[in-house]
Amino acid sequence: MEYTTLGRTGLRVSMAGLGCGGPSRLGRRDNKSDEECIALVRQALDLGVNFVDTAESYGTEEIVGKAIAAVPREKIIISTKKAFPLADRKHPAKEVRKGLEQSLRKLRTDYVDIYHVHGVEPGDYPYASTEVLPHLVKLRAEGKIRFIGITEAFVEDPNHRMLEQALKDGYWDVIMVGFNLLNQSARSRVFSKTMEDNVGTLVMFAVRRALSQPKRLREVLAELVQTGLVARDACNPEEPLDFLIGEGKASTIVDAAYRYCRYEPGAHIVLSGTGSLEHLKANIESLTKPPLPPPATTRLKEIFAKVDCITGN
Ligand SMILES: NC(=O)c1ccc[n+]([C@@H]2O[C@H](COP(=O)([O-])OP(=O)(O)OC[C@H]3O[C@@H](n4cnc5c(N)ncnc54)[C@H](OP(=O)(O)O)[C@@H]3O)[C@@H](O)[C@H]2O)c1
Repeated sequence: MEYTTLGRTGLRVSMAGLGCGGPSRLGRRDNKSDEECIALVRQALDLGVNFVDTAESYGTEEIVGKAIAAVPREKIIISTKKAFPLADRKHPAKEVRKGLEQSLRKLRTDYVDIYHVHGVEPGDYPYASTEVLPHLVKLRAEGKIRFIGITEAFVEDPNHRMLEQALKDGYWDVIMVGFNLLNQSARSRVFSKTMEDNVGTLVMFAVRRALSQPKRLREVLAELVQTGLVARDACNPEEPLDFLIGEGKASTIVDAAYRYCRYEPGAHIVLSGTGSLEHLKANIESLTKPPLPPPATTRLKEIFAKVDCITGN
C-alpha cells in the first residue's frame, strides 16, 4: 500500500480508502451478517488501508466500530458524515451535536478525524455554510472532530456546482467528489482548485454500475453517443472500452477504472465500496498497480472530454 498526505490536514492516509456506503454498504445490500461485514473491514486494514469512510445514513458505523475496536485509535483515520439536509433545520446546533454524538457512540471512539456535511446540493450550500458550519467549528474546538469536510450530491450535481461554491469559500479542509473515467469534469472544476489550496480530496464513484457491469456500460455509452457527447466512432458499441484491456494494460474494466482515478493529479484517496472480499482484494491490488499506459489515458481524456452530466451509476 502507498500512503500520502491528505492535503492541509497533514493526515497520512492510504491511497485506497474503504467506502462503507455506496450500493454495497459492506455487504449489507446482500444481507451479509455483522461478522462478514466486520471481516471485510478487517481484511481492508490487513491489506494496509487506514482510511475508512462511513456515514450516519449508511447503517455501517457500528460495524466499523466493532471492526476497529482492537486497533490503536491513532492507526485509523475515520471519516463519517452528518446526513443533509438536516431533519430539524430550525435547530442545527442541537441536531448536529446529537448526530455526531450518536456516530461517536456507534464508532466506539471519542473523536472522528473527518466529519463531513453529507451530499450537499447546490441550492442547500448557503445553509450548510452559514447554519451548520459554525456548529462543526465549535465541535472541533471541543476535540470531537479533527477536520471538517463536505461531500457533493454527485447524482443531482454531476458537474460539481456545489463544490465550486465551497472551494471559493475555503472553509473546508476535505472534500469528497464524484470522478471516474466517464465523467472527468472534476479535473478542471474541482482538482485545479483543491491542488491550489491544498484541500484533502476523496474520490467516490470510481466504478459504480457502468464500470462494473458490461451491459450497463453499453447502455451508458449508447446514451452518450445519442446525445452527441461522445463521437459515434469513438468506441466499439459492443465492448466500448476494450482498448484498455490486454498485456501491459488493464486486466479488467474495473481494474482500469480504479487505476485511472488513482493517478489523477489532485486525488488523494480513491474510495472503493464492496461487499465482497474477493473484490476488495482485487480493488486494492488495482489501486497499488502502476498507471495505465499513457496512450490509453490520453484516449480516455479525448473520448469523454465533453461529458459532465452522468455519474456512471
Ligand atoms: N455523497 C457522498 O458522500 C457519497 C456518495 C456515494 C458514495 N460515497 C462514499 O464513497 C464510497 C465509494 O463509492 P461506491 O461504494 O459507490 O464505490 P465504487 O467503488 O465506485 O463502486 C462500488 C460498486 O462497484 C461494485 N464493485 C466493486 N468492486 C468490484 C469488482 N472488483 N468487480 C465488480 N464489481 C465491483 C460493488 O459491488 P460489490 O459489492 O459486488 O463488489 C459496488 O456495487 C462509498 O462506499 C461511500 O463511502 C459518498
